[in-house]
Amino acid sequence: MDVIEAHNLHKSFGPVVAVDGVSIAVEKGGIFGFLGPNGAGKTTTIRMLTGVLTPDEGTALIGGIDIHKNPLGAKMKMGIIPENGTVYSDLTAEQNILWTAKFYGLDKSLREQRAFEILARLGLTGRRHDLVRTFSKGMRQRISIACAIVHSPPVLVLDEPTTGLDVYSRRLVIDTIRHMNEEGSTILLTTHNIEEANALCSSICIINKGKIVATGSPEKLKKTFDTSRYVEISFEQPVKRDVFTSQGIIRVENHGDKWRIFMDDPDLAVKYLAALAEQDHLKIVSIATSNPSLEEAFVQLTAGA
Ligand SMILES: Nc1ncnc2c1ncn2[C@@H]1O[C@H](COP(=O)(O)OP(=O)(O)O)[C@@H](O)[C@H]1O
Ligand SMILES: [Mg+2]
Repeated sequence: MDVIEAHNLHKSFGPVVAVDGVSIAVEKGGIFGFLGPNGAGKTTTIRMLTGVLTPDEGTALIGGIDIHKNPLGAKMKMGIIPENGTVYSDLTAEQNILWTAKFYGLDKSLREQRAFEILARLGLTGRRHDLVRTFSKGMRQRISIACAIVHSPPVLVLDEPTTGLDVYSRRLVIDTIRHMNEEGSTILLTTHNIEEANALCSSICIINKGKIVATGSPEKLKKTFDTSRYVEISFEQPVKRDVFTSQGIIRVENHGDKWRIFMDDPDLAVKYLAALAEQDHLKIVSIATSNPSLEEAFVQLTAGA
């Protein structure tokens, strides 16, 4: 069953077409990533899905409930972490969570139990009585997530949850997303970070200029772009591009102290490079064959963005 469905969403701001016919279907239990460069239309799509913006055209359903016909019903099923988290600076960490839990109708003992668990999970127990105004960006984002998950929502929607966070906060945020998913929440998140999408998501769609350009599992999308394989090599001595002369070479790229040699057959490329090093008395510092990367798929699909 699809717990998040969007059909043909459109939104323009004056002459700017921000979202141009986006449809998505997120299966129950998955972690669905919305991956795209800045300005692709991710936030605008999320705002329509969460009832913040009314689409010019199209519909969005959360757990089968139309967000625009029954916003409260749909929102009770969701935890939402917007691009710029909304937390109350003049309340403490714990008060933010308890207050939100009350809004969702949890009774007092459950509110206290959830606040206790979530503060611990997000590494905030020691700061629970401090005002949020004294918190770093990473800590504020953790509070924003704490509030969004307090009612154990079946659907969790996060807009760039890790952008700009310190390493520690980022790890806690990702662990929490995984934990919520294991507990049964279906996750929809946006990111412009390919590695994050690759590591976290069971399914992704790539959005560019308001349109979805590809959908599938990260592995499937990688395979679609399996064609160009390369071997990356670095030598102790500096070398010039024209030392690479084998016939099978498709192209040569220089990346810092490394060279990427694109050939159809990585096996031949490695053997050729070993022979070249031997012949020219070059000492190899490192050599590695590439796996098809999601980044490559992404770059090709969003070229000219
Ligand atoms: N409220 C707004 N008013 C005018 N233009 C907007 C507004 N929100 C977004 N846009 C424009 O819509 C496009 C998509 O933006 P957005 O959905 O924020 O992209 P993303 O989240 O993928 O970076 C951009 O060109 C952006 O400038
Ligand atoms: Mg955005």
